[in-house]
Amino acid sequence: MANVLIVMSGGIAAYKVLDLIRRLRERGHTTPVVMTEAAQRFVTPLSVGALSNAPVLTELWDLDREREIGHIRLARSADVVLVAPASADFLARMAHGLADDLATAVLLATGAPVVVAPAMNPFMWEHPATQRSVAQLTADGVRTVGPEAGEMAERNEAGVGRLAETSALIAAVEEALGADRPLAGRHVLVTSGPTHEPIDPVRYIANRSSGRQGHAIAAAAARAGATVTLVSGPVRLADPAGVETHHVESARDMLGAVERALPADAAVFAAAVADWRVNAAAQKLKKGSGPLPTLELTENPDILATVSRSPQRPTLVVGFAAETEHVLPNARAKLERKGCDWIVANDVSQGVFGAETNTVHLVSAAGVEDWPTAGKDEVAAKLVARIAEALSGA
Ligand code: CTP
Repeated sequence: MANVLIVMSGGIAAYKVLDLIRRLRERGHTTPVVMTEAAQRFVTPLSVGALSNAPVLTELWDLDREREIGHIRLARSADVVLVAPASADFLARMAHGLADDLATAVLLATGAPVVVAPAMNPFMWEHPATQRSVAQLTADGVRTVGPEAGEMAERNEAGVGRLAETSALIAAVEEALGADRPLAGRHVLVTSGPTHEPIDPVRYIANRSSGRQGHAIAAAAARAGATVTLVSGPVRLADPAGVETHHVESARDMLGAVERALPADAAVFAAAVADWRVNAAAQKLKKGSGPLPTLELTENPDILATVSRSPQRPTLVVGFAAETEHVLPNARAKLERKGCDWIVANDVSQGVFGAETNTVHLVSAAGVEDWPTAGKDEVAAKLVARIAEALSGA
């Protein structure tokens, strides 16, 4: 189920988009619509709104919405953008990157795949200027569906220029969604951040994990179409968009939240879980009242090892290994000991915690891959692409 943003430009074929909206909704998609001024001469926002049951927007300078930069939010929330009908004029404006109305501004601001469905008179379609626009848009990564050959609205005219059939438009939208969403229909579980182990009601043991890598993985998996559950220790990061995030403190809380989130197709354990907990005092420890306190430690449950060996084991289990020396031998040993499929090993002796970049090695039974140093978002995107590949073969 996706958020399909429909951009309508002017053309007699606009009325056919009403049926398309109805059909997309039947398939479970939500369909907000942006209409250009020209589109509103062919169908009214009222009839479009009645069918879409989602916002129909026409103005870039709608003050109420723009106070929260509405066009940016609209562009970002789309999983795919379909321009239908796409007039010759609108294709030319898109090809030049104009942004002087809501429709064109949204198209510049979106990161989602864009599909255009041209519909116009055959002479306008064949004109070199229109063909240049389409070639430019194709080079920019925009997909095209249609136009088709057939009778035109003008009497006695036939040729290529008709809006593609509704079924072809739906197929193009869902193909664009699938291409960019290799994890659609999958559940991915991610742990992230440190854990806090209480010493008494006001003190705790923690570590230097920022949660950036784990949160980036959760966000990348969501962008790839997965349903994502993120179990996060205490971090100073916003919950990633579109991710169900559970906040926990201690390792034992984290294990509980992870077990409640199963089953999953893949699980990535990026959290820096505290290995030990303290037998916490019920009351705040006071100084100067006898001998110095000593902290008695108990080993925490190993979440990764527990899940790897559970009857609900996800198809793919990925652990992390933060090492300060003997990175690869330690990672290989960890793979065995924890029973996971892959270990993402990193050398933390240079201070990875909190940093923007990461240098990792992907260790599996098949061997070791050294990945170049990259931003944590890039490492996340690469790992998610590999997870999608592995699951598609599963
Ligand atoms: N891990 C876990 N639960 C724990 C400890 C670790 O799930 N109680 C997971 C981490 O999320 C990570 C992997 O195990 O994916 C390895 O964590 P790391 O701290 O490197 O390994 P340890 O088991 O703690 O081993 P050591 O401290 O001996 O290096």
